[in-house]
Amino acid sequence: MSISKDQIAIQIKDLKKHFKEVKAVDGVSLDIKKGELYSILGPNGAGKTTLVKMLTTVLTPTAGDAKVNGHSILTGKNEIVKKIGVCPQVITIYDALRAEENVEFVAAMHGMPRKEAKEKTRKLLEDFGIAGRKDWSKHFSGGMQRRLNLAMSLIFKPEILFLDEPTAGLDPQARRLVWDFIRDMKNKDITVILMTHDMVEADSLSDRVAIIDNGKIIAEGTPTELKEKHGSDNSLEISFLEQEDLNLVKKNIQTIPFVVNSSEIHRKDRKTLLISFRGGLKNLVRLLQQGFIENIEEVENMKFRQNSLEDVFLNLTGRRLRD
Ligand SMILES: Nc1ncnc2c1ncn2[C@@H]1O[C@H](COP(=O)(O)OP(=O)(O)O)[C@@H](O)[C@H]1O
Ligand SMILES: [Mg+2]
Repeated sequence: MSISKDQIAIQIKDLKKHFKEVKAVDGVSLDIKKGELYSILGPNGAGKTTLVKMLTTVLTPTAGDAKVNGHSILTGKNEIVKKIGVCPQVITIYDALRAEENVEFVAAMHGMPRKEAKEKTRKLLEDFGIAGRKDWSKHFSGGMQRRLNLAMSLIFKPEILFLDEPTAGLDPQARRLVWDFIRDMKNKDITVILMTHDMVEADSLSDRVAIIDNGKIIAEGTPTELKEKHGSDNSLEISFLEQEDLNLVKKNIQTIPFVVNSSEIHRKDRKTLLISFRGGLKNLVRLLQQGFIENIEEVENMKFRQNSLEDVFLNLTGRRLRD
């Protein structure tokens, strides 16, 4: 699939950053489309933060180049920083300022009029559940500091937003809040580059995902494409009450084209069938519609295990995403 030039937000060409013998980023090439939510998924040490630092002109590459909004990261620093928002992995806030002062400070740096900055800050901090806090931000919990940091990256509407592990260390509730916010960015036509080691996060938010390992992109595509191409089979486990004749059921199931295998397994004293099949959730629905279960009353339990980006990473590297 080719993308026309004016649709591209970021074009990365053979970008490298070596720290002596450590090849942190080792020849990355990617095209990221305008308005796209693009995740770079990889384990700790894969090179995500180094890549973001180069794209946001904090670090100079060892080799290669990238265009952000049409400007080279080698020569266009001033143009680039005006259009991007960055939420770094290491929380970067001014300890001795209050929440709103931190956000208003960023707004001032972008030349936003004071009145507008105050109004927008109040609204943003309300959305993030940290409005009305009068204490210094150094006394905030880690989760609150991260939300404040996100608010700082969003106070002016950036064209491109870089989020480096935005939910690391957040409790599930705050994590969901941040996810909603990221989805909302997408509705506002902001290009979002999300660095994460969280495969659920990448799977549920992204239009496209690049998997990075040891400084190299090892696979790229929509979450569905990646799972279909590199993932494992899905599995459905069904336990029946005594009456069902599993041999007959098995025979029926084996004729379905996307079923890879079906076998009887031992689960306590229940007759249990394990079916592995290819494809996404659509095939699960199709499978259940085949009518191989003659009497639904006889089904005691069902467990579905879906092929995930974790399987994709495991199949590609032989390792798990989390060490
Ligand atoms: N300033 C640096 N000096 C030396 N090595 C570094 C530096 N920054 C990062 N690295 C190394 O580069 C690799 C990639 O790091 P990083 O980009 O932080 O990965 P990630 O963000 O995916 O966890 C790691 O091996 C890390 O130790
Ligand atoms: Mg990192």
